[in-house]
Amino acid sequence: MPLSDKAEKIRARKGKAPISALTAYDYATARLLDEEGVDLLLVGDSLGMVVLGFPDTTHVTIDHMIHHTAAVARGTKRALILGDLPINTYPDPGTAVANARRLVDAGAEAVKLEGGVRQAGKVSAIVADGIPVVGHLGMLPQRVNEEGGYKKKGRTDDETQAILEGALALQEAGVCAIVLESVLPKASRLLTEKLDVPSIGIGCGEGNCDGEIAVITDVIGSYPWFVPPFATQRADVAGEIKQAVKGYLNALGG
Ligand code: KIV
Repeated sequence: MPLSDKAEKIRARKGKAPISALTAYDYATARLLDEEGVDLLLVGDSLGMVVLGFPDTTHVTIDHMIHHTAAVARGTKRALILGDLPINTYPDPGTAVANARRLVDAGAEAVKLEGGVRQAGKVSAIVADGIPVVGHLGMLPQRVNEEGGYKKKGRTDDETQAILEGALALQEAGVCAIVLESVLPKASRLLTEKLDVPSIGIGCGEGNCDGEIAVITDVIGSYPWFVPPFATQRADVAGEIKQAVKGYLNALGG
């Protein structure tokens, strides 16, 4: 099954110009990021924390994702819109396809799911249904409770080898790219070298992957209560909001 034009363009960027990717969860942010020329907008299940106030992504449902994917789609003209399949929505190939289709109906142009070898059959089924898929390996936020926190991956040769096996299985199943999260730089470089599809890194160090993805609230500084150590904050939107609200209250004599 050929990939859609946008997904194929992302896949074809391997080894060429770096892929830029950011998360977006609402119309206005999506529109701003799209107008600035970001290649890929991920409606990430990180919305569970930074938009909905849950402690982690394991509380996110397909209905949350549909609601936010539709808003992002309304604000996006050119970027590839990637929707996260949240936890428990891809237990088997049939359910995975049905839920991927619901995200596409809401406006997603590709879907992302977490995990390697055990997800390959589900990836093949979704791709066979005509929906491009992006993989997600390394630190898997949907498994944060089993893993006891957000930990770096690729710390040993065996761990790196296991990620590589997963990545090759996903590639064989037809993914158009793979997100690598919190994989140590040496392991990230090795995975990037071994793969024919682009790796898109977060917390993998600079220049070790074919592209970079970041959570928008980390980049603009609008969620100050938790910022991952690897994030580069480029604005202080939380500070600006507080200043603006102070000004508003002062003007009212409050
Ligand atoms: O949900 C998300 O924001 C993600 C990124 C961490 C890649 O999956």
